Amino acid sequence: MFSPIGHTVNPMSAEALRRRLDQATAQLEPPLAAVDLDAFDRNAADLVRRAGGKPIRVASKSIRCRTLLDRALARPGFAGVLSYSLAEALWLAETCQDVLVGYPTTDRAALRRLIGSDRAREAVTIMVDDVAQLDLIDATFGSRRAPIQVCLDLDASWHGPAGVSVGPLRSPAHTVPDAVRLARAVLARPGFSLVGVMSYEGQIAGVQDHPRGQFLRGALVRVIKSRSVTELAERRALAVAAIGELTELRFVNGGGTGSLETTAAEDAITELAAGSGLIGPTLFDGYRTFRPAPALFFALPVVRKPGPRVATVFGGGYLASGPADSLRLPVPYLPSGLRLSALEGAGEVQTPLLGRAADSLAIGDRVWFRPAKAGELAERFPVYHLVQGAESAETPTYRGESQTFG
Ligand SMILES: Cc1ncc(COP(=O)(O)O)c(C=O)c1O
Repeated sequence: MFSPIGHTVNPMSAEALRRRLDQATAQLEPPLAAVDLDAFDRNAADLVRRAGGKPIRVASKSIRCRTLLDRALARPGFAGVLSYSLAEALWLAETCQDVLVGYPTTDRAALRRLIGSDRAREAVTIMVDDVAQLDLIDATFGSRRAPIQVCLDLDASWHGPAGVSVGPLRSPAHTVPDAVRLARAVLARPGFSLVGVMSYEGQIAGVQDHPRGQFLRGALVRVIKSRSVTELAERRALAVAAIGELTELRFVNGGGTGSLETTAAEDAITELAAGSGLIGPTLFDGYRTFRPAPALFFALPVVRKPGPRVATVFGGGYLASGPADSLRLPVPYLPSGLRLSALEGAGEVQTPLLGRAADSLAIGDRVWFRPAKAGELAERFPVYHLVQGAESAETPTYRGESQTFG
């Protein structure tokens, strides 16, 4: 039996999961969000296996819940956080000794707090890919201060034939000379200390290479990935070696959930990053070499029955970021056999669900959904209900701790 976007739901195990989620959260009112801790732990173990002995930095944007971050970090094989904003990093650094901010910052208020705290400066490393980011800090705070730890972001995109470029539009530092120039610029500035290098190959880690029903697209993506893996391994090795001649690096970070094996195979890489693989959202259903277990769900109540084969649930419009395509929509998962309507999709306050399974639903019943991406659901729900066996316990998300970082 197939759900609307690209994954097979085994009816036996799906029914068992539905019963377990329903039972563990029976006393709670939907809308609610639940995490299957057994699936989360299995996913964590599989990420560690795929990392082949290199430590995994947890990508917090894909989790956004401190209890779950801590749960991953408590396992052997995980070390440090890859955070997504400096303000978040400062907050996490109250309890975590090693937080790398994965993206550049211009948040002067957060920078002021970083500069003013020895403890924060020891725990937090900021990301730089342009001297203008250093200029902004010096222009605001001067350069006579204790140094801020800096990581260089090197572009990992693939430049193919005929000017084709595939990969995230991030760092302008693409070539080995670009990387060396940037490293020299940081090393020449008082007030900064160069400690690491990161480069994220989104075109390998973040693109499904086995999308259901799209054989040709899958084949093309696999060809591009394989060329990009080869090219990047060479370029990254040269860049890291050249920077290593100038200074001793504490870490070289690369990859994401979708690329752990190939990134880990590079000698130049000392650590990996991953977050989505712990959660197993639908955008990670279509990879050839791994399949995370779905671990995050949300339940919505059926509030009306407009007609045969339609049941309408309350809420549901929790779309994921990225290009506005149907892959960004949440997927009705349990009971299986439901789909979104093409005209209404996942609605602002209500979502009609179509399919034969709708006839088996009564007003007040629940439908369990899966999100397309891993972290953003935490911006919708103040708590996650952590399900283990037939029990559940609630824990706050970032939103539940009144922390929103963009
Ligand atoms: C810098 C960086 N590293 C790693 C990742 C991988 O995160 P995930 O494993 O959640 O896909 C991302 C995702 O966008 C990223 O931006």
